[in-house]
Amino acid sequence: MNTAKSSDPLLQTGLSWLARQITNHSSFGAYFEPLIQLIQPQWRSDRLRSKIVMVRPESHDMYSLVIKPHRSWSGFKAGQHLELTVEKNGAWMSRFFTISSSPSHYKKTGQIELSIQIQDKGQITPWLNNALIKGSVVNLSQASGDFCMGQDESPILMIAGGSGITPFRAMLGELCQQQKNARKANNGAGVKAHTLMYYARSSEHFLFKQELEQFKEQLPALQVHFIDSRENGFLNEQHLNQYCAHVNNCQIYLCGPANMIIHGRKLMASLNINKQQLHYEFFGPEPIEFEGSGDANTILFKRSNKKISTDNAAPATLLELAEQANTNPVSGCRAGICHQCICQKKSGVVYNTKTQQYSDTGAQEIQLCISVAASDLVLEL
Ligand code: FES
Repeated sequence: MNTAKSSDPLLQTGLSWLARQITNHSSFGAYFEPLIQLIQPQWRSDRLRSKIVMVRPESHDMYSLVIKPHRSWSGFKAGQHLELTVEKNGAWMSRFFTISSSPSHYKKTGQIELSIQIQDKGQITPWLNNALIKGSVVNLSQASGDFCMGQDESPILMIAGGSGITPFRAMLGELCQQQKNARKANNGAGVKAHTLMYYARSSEHFLFKQELEQFKEQLPALQVHFIDSRENGFLNEQHLNQYCAHVNNCQIYLCGPANMIIHGRKLMASLNINKQQLHYEFFGPEPIEFEGSGDANTILFKRSNKKISTDNAAPATLLELAEQANTNPVSGCRAGICHQCICQKKSGVVYNTKTQQYSDTGAQEIQLCISVAASDLVLEL
């Protein structure tokens, strides 16, 4: 039984349509937002107040938040993330986290889990672990992201590094449920040779080990390999031959530290794996891989009337440069997700590190946190 959503999706769609017709907003809440904020300044129509059910330690530097999302939360696909917003010392802070439990778990229990690595010097991750208790309220956005399993019939190769296991925990949980359903229907579907290659820097750093072993029992064709990277080295061609000889036929999902993803991308390219087969997600900002012209570029921040030059030896995003120039840019996730850093480019060419595309020379909106100067620029900031 789906305990998570008590409201009828058809009714919700109808209400949303009605709100758009009458108010030109996606909900009545969004229309009345400015009025409600007069009484409750931090209220936002797109944030859903949700309850903490439990804070569960997973390892010395990792914990899971078990959350019962608000009934208006619309569910998710395995692999997606959401924005969690909390009030800390009077200031609202937001971070994006991957949902590490499966959609079928949400359908059964009405709960989701966010498994969070404690960042030593982070402002939020250690604080959440200490401040939240059963019954605490946090604000959630709807889930988003396209790091999700496709519908095609190919086997899946999942390559995880450290806490990059979280979306795969959700995906494998979902595959187990699909397998159960297929067994019930007695159609034998779902028995594909999926593979998980899980890298960690030592054996005690593997997360959810017992649970991953149990997935193997439920998905007989699943191969799970725990690879201690200190002893066995990092992802390479030999590992692929050893653990997933059918890599050419797989949809490949990579999640982990940035250097692992960059390395994995290069490895797959060297093996002539089709780009369409490769899916990846960076935790945090995507590192800059950009070969500029070799000349330093000048950026003019028009409104602040400030200038800064790029340093080709240490490429920086436009957000970092705007901060260095003290132009007080607005930012949030610093990873191209929240769109808070959008700025008008008046002229010049930028390189988008996420899409790996160059812009045109004319005026357009850009996201500062994932953009690098590829020529002299004028920004409306
Ligand atoms: S800071 Fe979130 S998209 Fe740039």
